[in-house]
Amino acid sequence: MAAAAVAALLAALGGTLWLAARRFVRPSVQQLQGGGNAGLMHGKTVLITGANSGLGRATAAELLRMGARVIMGCRDRGRAEEAAAQLRRDLLLAGGPEPSPEAGRAEQLVIKELDLASLRSVRAFCQEVLQEEPRLDVLINNAGIFHCPLMRTEDGFEMQFGVNHLGHFLLTNLLLGLLKSSAPSRIVVVSSKLYKYGDINFEDLNSEQSYSKSFCYSRSKLANILFTRELARRLEGTNVTINVLHPGVVQTNLGQYIHIPLLLKPLYHLVSWVFFKTPAEGARTSIYLASSPEVEGVSGKYFGDCKEEELLPKAMDESVARKLWDVSEIMVGILK
Ligand SMILES: NC(=O)c1ccc[n+]([C@@H]2O[C@H](COP(=O)([O-])OP(=O)(O)OC[C@H]3O[C@@H](n4cnc5c(N)ncnc54)[C@H](OP(=O)(O)O)[C@@H]3O)[C@@H](O)[C@H]2O)c1
Ligand SMILES: *[C@@H]1O[C@H](CO)[C@@H](O)[C@H](O)[C@H]1NC(C)=O
Repeated sequence: MAAAAVAALLAALGGTLWLAARRFVRPSVQQLQGGGNAGLMHGKTVLITGANSGLGRATAAELLRMGARVIMGCRDRGRAEEAAAQLRRDLLLAGGPEPSPEAGRAEQLVIKELDLASLRSVRAFCQEVLQEEPRLDVLINNAGIFHCPLMRTEDGFEMQFGVNHLGHFLLTNLLLGLLKSSAPSRIVVVSSKLYKYGDINFEDLNSEQSYSKSFCYSRSKLANILFTRELARRLEGTNVTINVLHPGVVQTNLGQYIHIPLLLKPLYHLVSWVFFKTPAEGARTSIYLASSPEVEGVSGKYFGDCKEEELLPKAMDESVARKLWDVSEIMVGILK
């Protein structure tokens, strides 16, 4: 009995050590990105929502290294300034282009305030972008909120649907003219595999009757995919492409609303360190879709690990996608 327990313990320990060892020999970001591609994004302007944290920040870091001008759309100026300072330091260390702005030359990294939980903020943000930016080559709808208790946006929408879908829906629509005039241009949407557990329940889209944290997250991520497919259809022939991705499971701040009992925290950290992707690894598909010549002209597709993946039929339902588009237009008050 005791011997069996000791054996099991040793096996578990051995397994953990083996996995940890594997973790140590993971490829570096430079290796992941092939180390090359510097200059590939030169002259291009990229807008990333939620660029101060996790995947958004890692995406910004790599696109900056590739020479892009990056606009960070962030809701908290303090957190954004901190992230920007770190991004500038990393860029200098990587020997990237000098971030010092010359008179009359645009800065390479810019912060603009954007709260996707406020339609007023989204409108003000877009107005500023349209006034100040002569072009927009890539829009990355990355910001997201996960598993929060029932909360409402400024306009009364359920928070996860409001931020992950509706805020980005309005943002994209308001920037579409600029993206079209900058064509060929790209839109990249960050969804999640968890879309599989969602459903667009038109009878309670705003969670007035019931609320489930996980269902509402999945619903918002399914909406991201349906939005992508509907917009791809509407953008045919414009040279503006839109694709959607899932990043895998990544160690970021996204789990901030998940409560883990204190005693289990060390175990959780160990497990996530061993099994979860780092933000740099998780950002690879976003970076790929934003920059790779391989996906030029590709639109309306779903990607994981830089490869196209199959979708469940519910994510390809054209009539649901159209209806969601129409309802979303009404919800955010886009007047035609
Ligand atoms: N991590 C994963 O395992 C995973 C898996 C599948 C999909 N995803 C998706 O990946 C995307 C990025 O998430 P992450 O993992 O990098 O998490 P994260 O570290 O929490 O980053 C999320 C970003 O979204 C911003 N954000 C949240 N609410 C916002 C609002 N109302 N207005 C503007 N910005 C807002 C956050 O800003 P603050 O810093 O101010 O909060 C933060 O910058 C999300 O769309 C998420 O659904 C992640
Ligand atoms: C799209 O790109 C192709 C190839 O560069 C070009 O011939 C065409 O005129 C473009 N169409 C639009 C609508 O910009």
